[in-house]
Amino acid sequence: MARCFVSRALPGRALERLAGRHEVRIWPGPLPPGRADLEEQLDGAEGWLSLVSDRIDGELLEANPALRVVSNYAVGSDNIDARAAAAHGVAVGVTPDVLTEATADLALGLLLVTARRLREAAADVRAGNWRTWEPEGWLGLELNGATLVIVGPGRIGRATGRRAEAFGMRVLYVGRGDDLGAALAEADVVSLHAPQTDATRHLIDARALAVMKPHALLINTARGGLVDQAALHAALAEGRLGGAGLDVTDPEPLSPSDPLHDLPNVVVLPHIGSATHAARELMAERAVDNLLAGLAGEPLPSPAPRPG
Ligand code: DGY
Repeated sequence: MARCFVSRALPGRALERLAGRHEVRIWPGPLPPGRADLEEQLDGAEGWLSLVSDRIDGELLEANPALRVVSNYAVGSDNIDARAAAAHGVAVGVTPDVLTEATADLALGLLLVTARRLREAAADVRAGNWRTWEPEGWLGLELNGATLVIVGPGRIGRATGRRAEAFGMRVLYVGRGDDLGAALAEADVVSLHAPQTDATRHLIDARALAVMKPHALLINTARGGLVDQAALHAALAEGRLGGAGLDVTDPEPLSPSDPLHDLPNVVVLPHIGSATHAARELMAERAVDNLLAGLAGEPLPSPAPRPG
């Protein structure tokens, strides 16, 4: 029986399975544990079921030499220093596949909300400004025939593309080595689905935004760090971009005083791409599978990508 730390209670019953085999401590706080809390909680722990809000770096791994497995409750693992984990012999697991459809649903939701300006229109009704049906009121982008550029043609990107095709959109996929600038110039909507790495940080910067059409929309359900937010704000505020739907930001949470909130066609969500009952319960099952395998000295069923 090994000692395990779990960063938060999880939906479903997967943690019962873990507790049946190992000694489990679940962080009770509503916010992520700080460094001092972690020192206490991780003392002697061999397994850690972590969240995207946990920053796991070399210093932390160094201070916890008993750790053998970090099982991240996410498909991404950019919150974990993969090189440091490999150097410390710590196996890292992730939860792919089970959140693909939920995240693609949300990307489509943000696409519809921004294309049809739903946030602004609903706010106008609530503010009492709706006087009559207007032929030229609230005109937005028609999805049928519009071009969607998916940056990152992985599972979630392709699932988003399939949904968009059902709306009549023309879908272009852009991966590593493709001409991003040329694709951005054609896009009515750009949806980001690439992992966050050193190479993709600020992939959408001032230069990338400058080639986009002034009515184009940017959707991000991947990681906030893919976008240079100051450049995004400038492009939107100056009318060089039509709108943005952001499920992820840098930092998270985004401050309520961030100027992005003041722009009418910007929707910011609290990183809820995978937040369906089904996806989050299955993520817990996957995360527990990884932890159990790692603690048994077996290969993880869903390992994180190896450090490049
Ligand atoms: C992930 O899985 O990486 C998401 O961002 C959290 O569900």
